[in-house]
Amino acid sequence: MRILLLCHGFNSLTQKLFCDLNSTGHDVSVEFDINDAVTEEAVAMFKPDVLIAPFLKRAIPASVHENLKCFVVHPGPPGDRGPNALDWAILDDAETWGVTVLQAVAELDAGPVWASRSFALRPASKSSLYRNEVSEAAVAAVIEALEKLERGQSPEQITEKLSGWRPSVSQVDRQVDWQNDETETVLRKIRSADGMPGVLDEVLGKKVYFYDARPCHEALDDAIEPGTVLMRSGPAIAIKTVDGAVWIGHVRKASKDGVKLPATRAFATQSAALTEVSGGYRDISLKIIRDVAYLHFDFYNGAMGTDDCRRLLSVFRTAVASDANILVLMGGRDHWSNGLNLNLIEAAESPAEESWDNIRAMDDLSEAIIRTTDKWIISAVGGNAGAGGVFLARAADEVWIRSGVVLNPHYKDMGNLYGSEYWTYLLPKFTSAENARQITQARLPMGAHEALSLGLADRLFEEDHSAFPGAVAAAADRLASENLTDRLCTKRKVRARDELSKPLASYRARELEQMHKNFFGFDPSYHVARYNFVRKVPKSRTPLTLAVHRAGKNKRRSQPSIFRTTSEL
Ligand code: COA
Repeated sequence: MRILLLCHGFNSLTQKLFCDLNSTGHDVSVEFDINDAVTEEAVAMFKPDVLIAPFLKRAIPASVHENLKCFVVHPGPPGDRGPNALDWAILDDAETWGVTVLQAVAELDAGPVWASRSFALRPASKSSLYRNEVSEAAVAAVIEALEKLERGQSPEQITEKLSGWRPSVSQVDRQVDWQNDETETVLRKIRSADGMPGVLDEVLGKKVYFYDARPCHEALDDAIEPGTVLMRSGPAIAIKTVDGAVWIGHVRKASKDGVKLPATRAFATQSAALTEVSGGYRDISLKIIRDVAYLHFDFYNGAMGTDDCRRLLSVFRTAVASDANILVLMGGRDHWSNGLNLNLIEAAESPAEESWDNIRAMDDLSEAIIRTTDKWIISAVGGNAGAGGVFLARAADEVWIRSGVVLNPHYKDMGNLYGSEYWTYLLPKFTSAENARQITQARLPMGAHEALSLGLADRLFEEDHSAFPGAVAAAADRLASENLTDRLCTKRKVRARDELSKPLASYRARELEQMHKNFFGFDPSYHVARYNFVRKVPKSRTPLTLAVHRAGKNKRRSQPSIFRTTSEL
């Protein structure tokens, strides 16, 4: 079918639908919801069989939904209505929640139901639920709705009692009452607003929005007043509640130019005076089970700042020094890695210098993975990855990927960044020149099956996000029971041969030369793109890589690129 995705932005769910619908043979194009006239124009140009709205902030114009079948993906069960469905579900502590595919009608979220799915509501942030349970349920429901449409079936009128329209959640609804709220309530309030808009509060004399909250398990003095900032750990500060404390990992200053930052960075002066608790808020952990070392690195939003990369490298070295034969790089639950921490770079006194430090720290990590020849290294990609994060994963000997993962293996959208992490060495090593060209030039998200076929991954796991770590552990155990001598011997030979033919240092020097131009050169594209990304400046038009109807179909995978093909490297 010809499917037009109409969306406010190309967010994780829209990307997943884009990948999954394309891979099932549908003809998919995308239009951002700029205004009614642009939507009408897109429909006239693409002539879709159906329009799907996975993520909209406004109603679909009547001129469109009255003349074309339009499916709206609502992140709530049948009968639920309103713009902040998931926020309310978390605040209300619902046990189960759902996703409904409705037909667009004049009244918002009130159309007949084409399909729905339900899931258990995990205690997690709104964005984590959205990226995992909601996205997986939405894709399944959309596919069912499309099948029904193809078979000529009709949607069902809602029989469940409508909960009625629930308005937007206000800051008052989420406000933390430090004198009365228990830890669980504080966590729920912050999770309901994470990633956006955050929970507004005043702490250490500053008005900020809270994100990235976790329970604090340190022993505490009950006499301390709730609301008091107690200590620090990694990026987080701990705040006392009536029955314990919470770690707040990230905050955003409540001003127009506020950037989401680690709490200890946002309160740099005040937090320096706090007691540091090692391992209180843990973003890196190493577990060695029999012959396998599992390295978890769960950085907020997958963003890896200079210090994160250095800390991770140090724990990686500990893993390498252990007796384990296999090292599994687990990344985080939601994100494996999204590369450089663009927020920290944006907030730095010199963003160019910080970018430079950050990319070299990423490269050090990538290099350490590549140069480790006495362990078999696996990147277990259970969460999404983007830009340098994808190539960091590829530095391992094998990439095991969960089928629900979406990769964005390109740097170019960030103001024509050249990219580093040794991608110019790694891509030719693991894929063909044509595949490398496709990966680096397409500037499109990619599902796990496509990643497998293009050589960005080696093994597919069908498990969902909660079963993935167990499946990885079982597979790693099986591998550990084999004799790895031959594999490791071949690995050493290949590394030595590669080094002889072209030293790693020259790949690094060439990539960093280009990156230096991106950071310090006369073309400010990277700095502008980063500013827009961090501040979420809405796009004024749909990129032609996505709007197939505007680009001409065969242009999708052949945009001009600063990347050279691997044959030119
Ligand atoms: N640095 C800082 N924050 C990042 C980040 C990064 N590298 N990558 C993602 N994020 C943040 C986003 O700002 C967003 O923040 P929010 O919680 O305030 O909403 C959150 O992570 C989710 O990202 P989003 O863009 O909404 O996710 P997505 O699934 O729609 O898109 C990507 C995924 C990878 C395409 C997109 O996040 C991206 O382009 N990231 C930048 C990658 C990059 O260029 N890295 C630098 C070069 S190595």
